[in-house]
Amino acid sequence: MLGDKKVLFSGMQATGNLTLGNYIGALKNWLTLQDEFETFYCVVDLHSITVRQDPAELRSRARKLLTLYIAAGLDPEKNCIYYQSHVSGHAELSWILNCFTYMGELNRMTQFKDKAAKHADNINAGLFTYPVLMAADILLYQADVVPVGKDQLQHLEITRDIAQRFNAIYGDVFTIPEPYIGKTGAKIMSLQDPEKKMSKSDENPNASIYLMDDKDTIIRKFKRAVTDSEANIAYNDEQKGIHNLIDIYSVCTGKTPDEVVSEFAGKGYGDFKLAVGESVADMLAPMQARFAELEKDKAYIDSVIKNNAEKANYFAQKTLRKVQKKVGFPEKIR
Ligand code: TRP
Repeated sequence: MLGDKKVLFSGMQATGNLTLGNYIGALKNWLTLQDEFETFYCVVDLHSITVRQDPAELRSRARKLLTLYIAAGLDPEKNCIYYQSHVSGHAELSWILNCFTYMGELNRMTQFKDKAAKHADNINAGLFTYPVLMAADILLYQADVVPVGKDQLQHLEITRDIAQRFNAIYGDVFTIPEPYIGKTGAKIMSLQDPEKKMSKSDENPNASIYLMDDKDTIIRKFKRAVTDSEANIAYNDEQKGIHNLIDIYSVCTGKTPDEVVSEFAGKGYGDFKLAVGESVADMLAPMQARFAELEKDKAYIDSVIKNNAEKANYFAQKTLRKVQKKVGFPEKIR
């Protein structure tokens, strides 16, 4: 708790372009949490270098992601939006927690196995201890809740195990975080294969709507979306492509799936796809305009980066000092 609010922590990597799936599944929900929780939204650049990166590109993507958080509507006065690399406590706590994490536990992480298979030429120790750094992110701010996708639940589980192990030895040092499951928002699927999640790492650009796609591109991608040969707009599990388009349209317009189905009764897929494309373009337009404005305002973004890094650092140091004392490091002489 911070004051009378619960603490929420989440992070995103600045690799790949954010998609409509990230917006609907994560960002859009975050906007509704800014009054209820004391929030920390971190651009986790330390995690990014577990895979080889081009330095200039990493720096530029990280700034874009941070700017996008604000453009989407997260108020940087209320939400602590910052770079992980600007708060050294993440790396310091991560080292300490490494000494409270077992090789066997890390060996069971499915994401490590997947990534190791994908980057067989660079299976570095950082990739292996990635979950420990993530635990440090969360525990450093004494987070009560962590909104994460299903793919990160195993990492949250190990975070809880590490925290409980540490607390069992040293007393109540860390808050034990819970996963935060948002209001059941639709899971957005690939436009080219509606069995697969829409993903920023998909190699086919037609599979995903990127948040910065212009209107023409968005409409073109929806026109090409894979559907079926039923020629009937219905909401069921057999017509997965149409199901996904109905979900998207329903998020963009606020209509229920049933209302969408009756609105398009008797109409063809072509008309429907066009309407979905337009609704997505309309939903994204204000954020895109705001992003363009913010990108030009270097001084403002710099001030957000500076102020929020200071704020994050203040809370991080509080936890870190406590932990350092518990494990037996000597008091600093001032
Ligand atoms: N590993 C997360 C992902 O790839 C990103 C992340 C890093 C994170 N640290 C975190 C998410 C802490 C939540 C909390 O999606």
